[in-house]
Amino acid sequence: MIFQELNGRQCKTYLLACESIRQAILIDPLREYIDRYIAFLAYQGLKLDAVVDTHTHADHATASFELRRLLHADLIMHQRAPVPRVDRYVDDGDVITVGDLTLQVLYTPGHTPDSISLYTGDRVFTGDVLLIGGTGRADFAGGDAGEEYDAITQKLFTLPEETLVFPGHDYRGNTQSTIGEEQRTNPRVAGRSRAQYIELMNSIDFPLPDKIQEVLQPNQTAIEDDRAAFPGLAELNQVRQLSAKEVHAQLQGHESPVLLDVREPEEWSGELGHIPGSILIALKELGGRVDELEAYRDRPVVAVCRAGVRSTTAAAILTGMGFQRVSNLKGGMLDWNEAKLPTER
Ligand SMILES: [Fe+2]
Repeated sequence: MIFQELNGRQCKTYLLACESIRQAILIDPLREYIDRYIAFLAYQGLKLDAVVDTHTHADHATASFELRRLLHADLIMHQRAPVPRVDRYVDDGDVITVGDLTLQVLYTPGHTPDSISLYTGDRVFTGDVLLIGGTGRADFAGGDAGEEYDAITQKLFTLPEETLVFPGHDYRGNTQSTIGEEQRTNPRVAGRSRAQYIELMNSIDFPLPDKIQEVLQPNQTAIEDDRAAFPGLAELNQVRQLSAKEVHAQLQGHESPVLLDVREPEEWSGELGHIPGSILIALKELGGRVDELEAYRDRPVVAVCRAGVRSTTAAAILTGMGFQRVSNLKGGMLDWNEAKLPTER
């Protein structure tokens, strides 16, 4: 196996490749280093078969969309990833094959709802869930400290002790650790109960990453247009979130809301389907097509997407444009389907 960390800085990108067929996979590539990755692949005579983002990143722009477009690599993310145009959504236990390499997907949520780890042979890539002597923050973008504790203690810590740990970040100059070492010495987790871990994580005052919304929203939406004006965190936090059951109940009520689906057309007719009667305007077109919604300015509107993230952005945009009664379908079509509510394709 060819194995290399390519960035040489705190934020890690790993390349794994099969020596015989010379196919490669990149884990968590940074957009600013895309030229370096393409040069490295060419120099090594490797074909990029797949790109995995271990989760939706808030601290750097992903190179995944560009690598997918330029090198025809498959983009792989967890089922809960909010973005469109993922070639393969994976879940716990799925296997990713690249030449003669196989990577097993471990669903390890907590840092974000779409966090995965990848386990292959003697090593595990833990994204931002388990770090060396630390753990990923769980205080925004759908994070959950309790889920993170469970993922670390019940999934990652059940791997063989000698398994090498390669995290998505390291701030202290470390490059690798082992599962056994983290079990024994990780100061966040070792000797702590779930409740103690939650208490600890809630007590840490993490500063928000620089320009968090400017980074997070393009990664969440796959909109890379530099002119796109995304709402700020305050506007997003004000969006009223409704569960699938609440939206369904409102649809049966006396003042049924207008459903605005902001996904891409191929998702609308894809595997998750759409809610009967909903209107489709992709998020990237919303600004230019808002006059089509003029009649609904005073009606209840519920924005809908895959995971409820793009639609929160849409709801904040519409609220900013003076629409009075906009809410969001929390968990999007993923939750709607999970609740077995009616869909059509
Ligand atoms: Fe992260």
